[in-house]
Amino acid sequence: MPPVAESSLQVKADFPIFKRRFGGRELIYLDSAATSQKPEVVIEALAEHLRKHNANIHRGVYPLAQEADAAYDRARRRVAEFTHAEPETTIFTKNVTEAINLVAYAWGRANVKRGDAVLITQMEHHANIVPWQILCREREARLRYLEIDERGEISLDALQAQLARGDVALVAFAHVSNVLGTINPVAEMAAQARAAGAVSLIDGAQAVPQMPVDVEAIGADFYAWTGHKALGPTGVGVLHGRRELLERMEPFLAGGDMIASVDFQSATWNELPAKFEAGTPPIAEAVGLGAAVEYLAGLGMERVRAHERELTSYLLERLSQVSGVRPVGPPEADRRGGLVSFTVEGMHPHDVAELVGRSGVCIRAGHHCAQPLMRCLGVGATARASVGVYNDATDIDALVDALLAGREIFGL
Ligand SMILES: Cc1ncc(COP(=O)(O)O)c(C=O)c1O
Repeated sequence: MPPVAESSLQVKADFPIFKRRFGGRELIYLDSAATSQKPEVVIEALAEHLRKHNANIHRGVYPLAQEADAAYDRARRRVAEFTHAEPETTIFTKNVTEAINLVAYAWGRANVKRGDAVLITQMEHHANIVPWQILCREREARLRYLEIDERGEISLDALQAQLARGDVALVAFAHVSNVLGTINPVAEMAAQARAAGAVSLIDGAQAVPQMPVDVEAIGADFYAWTGHKALGPTGVGVLHGRRELLERMEPFLAGGDMIASVDFQSATWNELPAKFEAGTPPIAEAVGLGAAVEYLAGLGMERVRAHERELTSYLLERLSQVSGVRPVGPPEADRRGGLVSFTVEGMHPHDVAELVGRSGVCIRAGHHCAQPLMRCLGVGATARASVGVYNDATDIDALVDALLAGREIFGL
């Protein structure tokens, strides 16, 4: 029997998808880094909103519209509270990708000048690379990379050396890498950037779902994340921004709701956060996200982190027992989030994912939207197993059994 740690959460029953069977087998979902499964309370909040409270927001004066307004505003307050941010500086976007693009367009175009540098790390997701490539090309700025070491970590000294060059306008980095699992020292990095006069942006897509995140304490200028990885619905993401910067920035998208007034030739902008929420926002999705963070807060994010740390430690231990398996990223579970990417000697990662999938085990294979990082690692792709609040040690055992069976099929 696998160990049941004291920190274990036992919440699988809260997630209706686990009632499903695939070819008679139960669902073993180890792909939460791609998207999380949803608890009944989130599904119900979304359905209940659409069933009973649906109207457009910030327009209607009738009671139903006021209910929709109240639900959207409540969702924003819950989300802001969850991450220790202010509601007015908590902007709903479509996803973290849109949140980062918002900063690249609305802040970057006005503030990054010819000859400036944008500094990111080699472990970024494409969402935190390509917007900066486009910005740098347009502004004739340079895109530089902080290197990762053989453990998959970056060095604060190297960051300091980059900043000391005096040309860095913005530093953007993941809180938790979606490939290596590395947890970056984000508060120190944001503080270094600030001391050097650079603006900082953190991609918190993999962090917010699995550990306590206090954006005020971290102190970055922008902190972005995505709802669907944090037990919420797809279609809603979040950007927390420093008020002074958001107030000075021009809008990203323009249209309804983001204006104070419009004349034939010009317009003035609405207050925060509406200034950055043009058009009808993802209302029901935001309500669903509000329910998701409430559910997570109810579990307690310290417990969520302890649970996922425990499972990651077990995952690393069990994978080390399968010959030919090579995990990437820091060896210690303490220094990583709830995922492990790995290669299997003699098997392509897609074959690995396909073979374990036959046993009902869902893992991801590919470049994980991090092609530059794959080049640094010297591989084209990896397999990746990632855990969520609903997993337990038996899921990891199922993965390892399926891997061993897969190796046999390949004659390894
Ligand atoms: C670290 C990181 N950043 C950004 C993203 C992009 O998320 P979304 O597609 O929700 O914008 C992901 C998701 O895979 C991610 O893991």
